[in-house]
Amino acid sequence: MAPVRRLTSSVIRARKGKRFPVITAYDAPFARCVEDAGIDVILVGDSLGNVVLGLESTAPVELDDMCRHGAAVKRGTSRAHVIVDLPFGTYQASDEDAVRASIALVKAGASSVKLEGGIDAASRIAAIVRAGIPVVGHIGVMPQTAGNTSGFKRKADGELLLADARAVEAAGAFAVVLEMVDADVARQITAALAIPTIGIGAGPHCDAQVLVLHDALGLYAHAPPFAKRFAELAQIATGALQAYASEVRDGTFPAAPSAVAGDEPVYVVSTPS
Ligand code: KIV
Repeated sequence: MAPVRRLTSSVIRARKGKRFPVITAYDAPFARCVEDAGIDVILVGDSLGNVVLGLESTAPVELDDMCRHGAAVKRGTSRAHVIVDLPFGTYQASDEDAVRASIALVKAGASSVKLEGGIDAASRIAAIVRAGIPVVGHIGVMPQTAGNTSGFKRKADGELLLADARAVEAAGAFAVVLEMVDADVARQITAALAIPTIGIGAGPHCDAQVLVLHDALGLYAHAPPFAKRFAELAQIATGALQAYASEVRDGTFPAAPSAVAGDEPVYVVSTPS
């Protein structure tokens, strides 16, 4: 049987003009759900810090965190393209740092890497691409630094954003995330670029959309206003755990063993496959 090939950055680039979904994932079982749902582009975002590690911001996320979770997502999938974020501090200082950190992510399982920045990040993007690693850009609101700089307010300076987007494309990125960009500006950028734009809170005109998994599945009470909740998984999980707790308390679970000792099915640790 021919080996299953992972979706490449060139295939994603060629989706320009065709709408497609992207979503974050951080572990093997949810990555499996994403792939089973027919979504073949997964972002292991450094939003990991907020939604999985319980941090206040993405700034403390380490390269080791991204490697570990990127590897888990890769193990939980067989065909999806796995974009992994370069965390804060791994690429700001030099092109060499950026290439070294990107290589670590690829060794862990990343199909490509993503970094924040426009014109100022162009040299980093070009260096990583020269090292043979596909790159996704990220402009508009940039959460790694937004807390200390311009904040999380929507960006609408069309000229600046278009210049950033063009610089990211010229540097060799195969796609660019537009986060919290004014919808009309996002439409203009999408029309001006040959690479796909991936919008988050940037309106309906981008080529692709990305959401944070925990927002889309309703795992937290609060989510950004642009994030649609497609399920209420926290409620379902809490209900299931209440049922478990009550069955333990009233003795319904576990049931008395039906098999003769030594004759039980073999115990196998759960895995996503
Ligand atoms: O870290 C992340 O999840 C992201 C998305 C919000 C685009 O960068």
